[in-house]
Amino acid sequence: MNSDKNVKIYLAGHRGVAGTACYEILKENGYSNIITRTHSELDLTNQKAVFDFFAEEKPEWVILCAAHIGGIADKAKFPAEYIYDNLAIEMNVIEAAHKNKTKKLLFMGSAYAYPITEEPSKEETLFSGEHGKLDEPYIVAKIAGVKLCEYYWKQYGDNFFSVMPCCFFGEGDSFDLTRATVVPSMVRRMSEAKERGDEEFPIWGTGKPLREFLSSKDIARGCLFLLERYKGGGEYFNLGNGGELISIAELAGIIQQVVGYKGKLIFDLTKPDGMRKKVLDSTKLMNLGWKPQDCLEDSVKELYSYYMRTAKGK
Ligand SMILES: NC(=O)c1ccc[n+]([C@@H]2O[C@H](COP(=O)([O-])OP(=O)(O)OC[C@H]3O[C@@H](n4cnc5c(N)ncnc54)[C@H](OP(=O)(O)O)[C@@H]3O)[C@@H](O)[C@H]2O)c1
Repeated sequence: MNSDKNVKIYLAGHRGVAGTACYEILKENGYSNIITRTHSELDLTNQKAVFDFFAEEKPEWVILCAAHIGGIADKAKFPAEYIYDNLAIEMNVIEAAHKNKTKKLLFMGSAYAYPITEEPSKEETLFSGEHGKLDEPYIVAKIAGVKLCEYYWKQYGDNFFSVMPCCFFGEGDSFDLTRATVVPSMVRRMSEAKERGDEEFPIWGTGKPLREFLSSKDIARGCLFLLERYKGGGEYFNLGNGGELISIAELAGIIQQVVGYKGKLIFDLTKPDGMRKKVLDSTKLMNLGWKPQDCLEDSVKELYSYYMRTAKGK
């Protein structure tokens, strides 16, 4: 375990959901030498700017949370931008880290990089089966990021590796309904339904699809766990809750309680369900001794409080 709390860490994407939590967890664990740049201060798709930044700052650890993220409709409309931006961010940051002898780099992949299956996705199944078509530009870029880390380890011995997180949420989340993920989007919609006094709250599909969630803080704890303990490179580690699934209907019930919405949840069967089940096999990481700490209800409460404090109305 690395006990040098003064290690110079570049946290890329520090104002996003994962980045906000990583910043907090690093600080909580005594790491004080964290450098950050907003998107407007440093556009990671700009190779020269990234190379200059790394040459000047020479970070010892890099946590790459920055990515061009959006909803399915946005990805379908701008697929070239999604694939270009994400590949450019990964290539620029990983090459710059290599040139400047970064000791450890963690790249954030995604559970959605795995092929469609109802079985828990294991790391070795990344290239088996069929991948989702709607998300293709994002998936291709995520797989490329994982592979960049693998090949930089293989050719240069760089300690670059990846995590594959399940869905997560927390402070820093966007409540913009064109890009918000399921939990923040339901928190906002239900809180607005409560304010309007709506008698019914529609949920897309049957409510039966099963999903896996972690708090963004648990994602950050998982990342720090690996940065402190994992000595190799090239591998990727699923970062899920150990296979605890919840249906969309149950999730809506938890959000209803937290928000205090008194109306009735109804299911709009004219809308599609999406994948029936999405779950990671996180045995590889858990066998190293990591486990999540937060419970879903408490994490939803924290998200609702964040929404009420800061993001409401945005
Ligand atoms: N959220 C999930 O449920 C989930 C699940 C699995 C995997 N992941 C992965 O986890 C990582 C973090 O996701 P997140 O949800 O934390 O994303 P997020 O909240 O959208 O944050 C992304 C961050 O990247 C920054 N960024 C985007 N383009 C940039 C650029 N060209 N130059 C510099 N910074 C740029 C953004 O800054 P601006 O806001 O200023 O543009 C933002 O701070 C991503 O790789 C994502 O694919 C997320």
